[in-house]
Amino acid sequence: MADSMAQAAPQDGETRRDFLNLVTASFAAVGVGALAWPFISSMNPARDVLALASTEIDLKPIATGSAVTVMWRGKPVFVRNRTAQEIQAARQAPMSELKDPQADQARVKKDNWLVLVGVCTHLGCVPLGQKPTDPRGDYGGWFCPCHGSHYDTSGRIRKGPAPANLAVPDYTFTSDTQIRVG
Ligand code: FES
Repeated sequence: MADSMAQAAPQDGETRRDFLNLVTASFAAVGVGALAWPFISSMNPARDVLALASTEIDLKPIATGSAVTVMWRGKPVFVRNRTAQEIQAARQAPMSELKDPQADQARVKKDNWLVLVGVCTHLGCVPLGQKPTDPRGDYGGWFCPCHGSHYDTSGRIRKGPAPANLAVPDYTFTSDTQIRVG
């Protein structure tokens, strides 16, 4: 189009051509801008994509007896590398004493690694027990200070108003030292 109009007015061809080139370039710039935003925008994951995303957790830095908290789908996930004593305590608990009876073996894939959604099943507080200095409640697992729920070393509710055990999220071991949650 720019060429045909420029040929129709050869006397001021250079000026008109420059003008048309400028206009064309401007439209091109707007077009690129208009295309670029959805492209850049598409590089930011949408909230629903984030909500579905899985999370890889490297287990190597988590020493026996310690824990880490990783965010997944907007919730804290607790990963604890349990000691032999913690595993034993979880396995010796009589089922008859459990409010939400579930064997420890059914809540883990490897004896020492306990993976939990760190959200109290009472009203959704985040229980304490991840840091070495945190109170861990009467059963050595986690303690929710909001209304006093005590969870054991399998994350099962043992005392207080919470109705259910801390949830175990879907996860898989992708290697001996890494899990993928979600
Ligand atoms: S929210 Fe945890 S005890 Fe109420």
